[in-house]
Amino acid sequence: MTHSAPPASQSSPLQARKSASLTGRVRVPGDKSISHRALILGALSVGETRISGLLEGEDVLNTAKAMRALGATVERTGDFAWRVQGVGVAGFAQPAAALDFGNSGTGCRLVMGAVAGCPITATFDGDASLRSRPMRRIVDPLELMGAKVTQSRDGGRLPLTLAGARDPLPILYRTPVASAQIKSAVLLAGLSAPGITTVIEQEASRDHTELMLRHFGAEIVSEPDGAHGRKIALTGQPELTGAPVVVPADPSSAAFPIVAALIVPGSDLVLTEVMTNPLRTGLFQTLREMGGSIEQSDVRGDGGEPMAQFRVRASRLKGVEVPPQRAPSMIDEYLVLAVAAAFAEGTTRMRGLKELRVKESDRLEATAAMLRVNGVSVEIEGDDLIVEGRGHVPGGGLVATHMDHRIAMSALVMGLAADQPVTIDDTAFIATSFPDFIPMMRRLGAEFG
Ligand code: S3P
Repeated sequence: MTHSAPPASQSSPLQARKSASLTGRVRVPGDKSISHRALILGALSVGETRISGLLEGEDVLNTAKAMRALGATVERTGDFAWRVQGVGVAGFAQPAAALDFGNSGTGCRLVMGAVAGCPITATFDGDASLRSRPMRRIVDPLELMGAKVTQSRDGGRLPLTLAGARDPLPILYRTPVASAQIKSAVLLAGLSAPGITTVIEQEASRDHTELMLRHFGAEIVSEPDGAHGRKIALTGQPELTGAPVVVPADPSSAAFPIVAALIVPGSDLVLTEVMTNPLRTGLFQTLREMGGSIEQSDVRGDGGEPMAQFRVRASRLKGVEVPPQRAPSMIDEYLVLAVAAAFAEGTTRMRGLKELRVKESDRLEATAAMLRVNGVSVEIEGDDLIVEGRGHVPGGGLVATHMDHRIAMSALVMGLAADQPVTIDDTAFIATSFPDFIPMMRRLGAEFG
């Protein structure tokens, strides 16, 4: 089987140096979560789905390949413009070979949900990072719906073979952790079940699947449940109809130039069309609480996904406490927040980060290691990360990226303002989510070399 990332022996290190002010106007690539969903829902619809602004990163390209392998027609028609001809709900065909999702947990887990509702058998695989991640959390509810894992490694890890249900059952499922991936897998399987599939989550997670299912014609009701949770009810066996999708810029990718602009003195950056779904904007709220100058204008997008323009200026930051309830709305942003915290004055305590341990790497340990090797004082206490900000970062360290794109980009951002250069061991995985990161940051004034 071929894997998208090169083996470690071909790794390409890179150094980031103290840079002059970052200035300019950019649009970061399309949102990764929405890009995966547009391809999958397009494939499960009848008729044509035209997608503009698709993220052409390796993670999403692997999902596109999987949709083809399952019988949909998926074509690139121009820059970031794609056309999907779907097979309809429950219409996936038996794939001829294993589906390789590379580094992508989201692609793999969402497609597991979609396959679980079809009478086919598929094998799911990925790179060493994805092979180490837990899949039981996804296949447990899918088995309740009638799917079956016929083969897996080490109690549910990839490579894993899933036999979809011939007659899927609608279930009511309480997710054990706030996870849009678990919620989405159950909803996608529920598309083929008769009756109502319900997911209850204690903390609301990103709701792109719900919004897009509605956009494609499904009947889906989402209401508050408890203090921070939601109850989502999907009516099964809808006729999904292909629909146009415009993918806004990814706030999780925007996070890197935004933090870079805050910490590199004199910076003044504009980022356009950044998605501002409130279930994704915890980082921006936190950076503002730290004293970051982030102005929002040109707010657009009603009904679907909202977006806005951000102007970010270098700012004096202070340490803050980040409550655990905020974690789902910024789960992918703690690494780069920790970088901002290291440049702030005072202590930042980020609470309730257990889920970081099961991302592309153990991000709790990796973040602490990234900071420590660059002279920042940091502690892990239970599920909390505590960073002592001293207003500057000594730098000079070599950061191990552990096949994790967000460690690579966070460490490079840190190097743009640290006293001494910061080196990463490998840039390869940046291409999973932000293929243009290095040239785009260079155009803004970043010194990499
Ligand atoms: C995602 C959900 C999150 C996030 C991931 C993308 C999604 O994972 O970390 O990068 O698109 O649904 P969990 O749902 O497992 O927290």
